[in-house]
Parts: sequence; structure tokens; C-alpha cells
Amino acid sequence: MKDEDRSLKREVAKFFDKDHVIKKRKHPPWMDKVYYPLFKGRVLEIGFGMLLPPQHLRKNYVGVELSKHALMYAKANNVDCVCADGEKLPFKNKSFETVVCHDVLPYFPNPQNFLAEAKRVSNNRIIIIDANYILDKRRLSEMSLRDVVKLLREFITKPKCYRRAGDIWRHVKNGGAITGVNLRFVEYWMKRVGCEIILSTSFMYNFISYYILLQKSLKNFIKLTVSRLPLFRFLGPMMFIIAKVESITKQNTYA
Ligand SMILES: C[S@@+](CC[C@H](N)C(=O)[O-])C[C@H]1O[C@@H](n2cnc3c(N)ncnc32)[C@H](O)[C@@H]1O
Repeated sequence: MKDEDRSLKREVAKFFDKDHVIKKRKHPPWMDKVYYPLFKGRVLEIGFGMLLPPQHLRKNYVGVELSKHALMYAKANNVDCVCADGEKLPFKNKSFETVVCHDVLPYFPNPQNFLAEAKRVSNNRIIIIDANYILDKRRLSEMSLRDVVKLLREFITKPKCYRRAGDIWRHVKNGGAITGVNLRFVEYWMKRVGCEIILSTSFMYNFISYYILLQKSLKNFIKLTVSRLPLFRFLGPMMFIIAKVESITKQNTYA
């Protein structure tokens, strides 16, 4: 690993050691309805932070974290956890049925490496729920005109903050987040490491309650929304991807 990446990760861990103390997070209700029901078999969660899984799922659960504070919190609650880097997981191939992460991808200097690791340790599914960035940390669909002007001004006056790294723009040291990753890149990287995308969409958090109302025809509903609004996929503030490991994908369900 490059020295620069190592030091970025140290910064992320330091940032969250403080942040987790200040911000006590509670499960948003949608997680109980959408995220945790996807926990099947032995589950590995990367970057659980201060959100521990519900009691009934803890027996088959292992969490990975960089933040000492989050690890201490999990241990105090008898939740199995390991201090490790998501880009280099200390587990054997195919040791988990489900690998999940929520709100963690932008903290990896190399999200592609993390996705390859997730694929290596999973024997069934990978679930990614995260911010869907368009250029950097800020999501265009949430930006006001003032934000756009500020972004352009920063881009011109402080070009060192931004750096093109392969497929992504990096915004170094922006409230802990170091990369801005778009749904399309994540889909592409996942396919490249041999995952089959079985659900891929962008959404707003309040959209999730809408999903729940339409649960029975969820797939059709998403397919329709996403196909009618191609830009929405690119700009939606959050990404939600369920991928199956093993076979190379034949087609993207919602392309
Ligand atoms: C924004 S928090 C999200 C926490 C939790 N998933 C949630 O939804 O509240 C990101 C978490 O990812 C962890 N993290 C960041 N980079 C990581 C890495 N390379 N390996 C493991 N965990 C990491 C951080 O320590 C932090 O707790």
C-alpha cells in the first residue's frame, strides 16, 4: 500500500474516533426495513461505525472497523468485531455469505480494491448503500446555486484539493471523505471483479419508505422509475446495489 493511502486511512480513523463520540447515531427506521433484512447467513459488515446490528442478527455477524472508538463500542455490546482495513480483509476466500457496507465507500482511497476484497471473501452477495457522488463529495441533485458557485470557485482557486485518480475525482480531506464515487463506476468495478449486479439504483432516503409501500412490485417499480429517468441514476443522492458473486454478469438488469 502506498504511504499516502496509509496516511489517509490514519486520518479517516482519527476523524471517526472523534466524530463517533460527538455524533451518537441511531438506526434510521428504513434500515430495519431495507438494510437488515438483507443480512443472510454469516454476515461481514465493513465500517459499521456506531450502528450495531439488531440483537437477533449478532450471532452470525462480524464487523470490521478502523475506528478504535467504534470497536470499543461494539466490544462493550458483545458484538464480534475486528480492527482491519476494508481494502485488506483478514479473512479466507468465501468465508461470508453476505458482505455489506453502508456509508463507507467514500472513505477508501481505492474503492476498487475494497470491492475486489468484498468479492473475495463473499460466497454469495455484496450489498452497497452509499452516497452517489457526481463530481466530488457534494451531490449535484442536492446542491443549491450557491453551492455550485462555491464548488467552481474552489475548483479554480484550490486545484490541489482535487485530483483525478483513475476513474474518480478525489477530494482530499473533506470532512473525512476522501473519494467521490458514482453508482456507474461502482457497477463497473463490481462487474470487472466478477460480480453480477442484481439490483442497482439510486434513491433518496425518503424514497425508501415509498419502496416499502410498493414492496410487492419493488423490482418493476424501480425498473420503471430508473428507465424513465436515465439521469436520475446518475444524480440520485444515494446508491443501492445488490450484487451476486461468482458468475460474470451477462447484463445489467436496469441498464
Ligand atoms: C460514515 S461512517 C458510517 C458508519 C456506519 N456504517 C453508519 O452508517 O453509520 C464510515 C465508517 O467507515 C469506517 N471506515 C472508513 N474507512 C475504513 C476502512 N478502510 N476500513 C474499515 N472501516 C473503514 C470509519 O471508521 C467509519 O466508522
